[in-house]
Amino acid sequence: MSGPAGFLSAFAHALAAMTLYAAGHPARERAIDDAFQQLHDLQSAAPELKAWDWSRRLAQAGIQRLEFADRVSRDEFEGFLDEVLARLTLSAIDTTEAHQLRHSSIRFGSVGVKGDAGSAEAPVATATIGYSLGEEAETVRWFQDAVKSQGIVPLTEAEAVVRSLSIAMHSDRQLVIPLLQLKEFDQYTTTHSMNVAVLTMALAEHLGLGAREVRNFGIAGLLHDIGKVRIPLDVLTKPGRFTDEERALMNQHPIEGARIILKSEEQLELPAVVAYEHHIMLNGGGYPTLRFRRDCHRASKLVHVCDVYDALRTNRPYREAWPQERTLTYLRDRGGVEFDPELAGAFVRMMQQWEPQVAVMTDERAPLGTAGT
Ligand SMILES: [Fe+2]
Ligand SMILES: [Fe+2]
Repeated sequence: MSGPAGFLSAFAHALAAMTLYAAGHPARERAIDDAFQQLHDLQSAAPELKAWDWSRRLAQAGIQRLEFADRVSRDEFEGFLDEVLARLTLSAIDTTEAHQLRHSSIRFGSVGVKGDAGSAEAPVATATIGYSLGEEAETVRWFQDAVKSQGIVPLTEAEAVVRSLSIAMHSDRQLVIPLLQLKEFDQYTTTHSMNVAVLTMALAEHLGLGAREVRNFGIAGLLHDIGKVRIPLDVLTKPGRFTDEERALMNQHPIEGARIILKSEEQLELPAVVAYEHHIMLNGGGYPTLRFRRDCHRASKLVHVCDVYDALRTNRPYREAWPQERTLTYLRDRGGVEFDPELAGAFVRMMQQWEPQVAVMTDERAPLGTAGT
């Protein structure tokens, strides 16, 4: 098959392969290559399109029109497929809860934009963009519920959220760090997980890691606290000090998280390691207690810094959010003890460079009771 029909069926096949196989899998690469080749062939012939099964599904995902420039690189094409797939996956999730939440909007702020890298004197360029992370937040709530009831992480949806967050970060010409601000504490695990995913990807990118690795670190960031689905909401949102029992329960979440992730997918080895290690300090302190001192994975150390940053910057039932400066000073001071000093330093520099401006998140849903975790 060739011509438009050939391209469209290869295109659909590539999307299907991408939902089934992780990046780098030969079947996935072959399907993308094939669609890419078909696109190439198509562009040298006059296109003519008839009704096509995927057009309805794409329209539902908000894609009305496909337009390709003359020269599309293989990388650009894969990035485009990623975006289409993220939209398709997010729009396909329509649980009753998600449907009810459809009208709520979570607007994000904290748009840090890279200034002119060349001159330190130049004023930091800032920009505010309108982008709602409502669908992503719904999806995270949905999969947290799925983990709670089935004990398994739906990988496709987790990947779709990370892709979508990565798209939001790159929706402008410069890198943007979209952070959600918490309104109701019962939503903490959702907003916190998304923020840690975004910060982890930003730091990984800042450190020069490749796109695929950045994405994998993002998934690890998103899932780092998934073990908290085992902790009752009233303990998670408790305003006062924990009893010894409650503390012990809280401290189980890295082990629980790693267990859940390992049970879900073989491909999720890195997120499982990160879930297990993200509260272990550089000096061996923290939890779970290690029987033998060993070095943690770089992704865990990276998530650890982003995790503490987001936690300190959030209002808790028992304390106010820390201001930016105080938080960054803390991260720097604890380098060498709690954090890898190089990573903590890089994080602080990144945040200073991308002057964050936090806008207020509006979440119009009813408080407590309707929430996931
Ligand atoms: Fe945690
Ligand atoms: Fe966390």
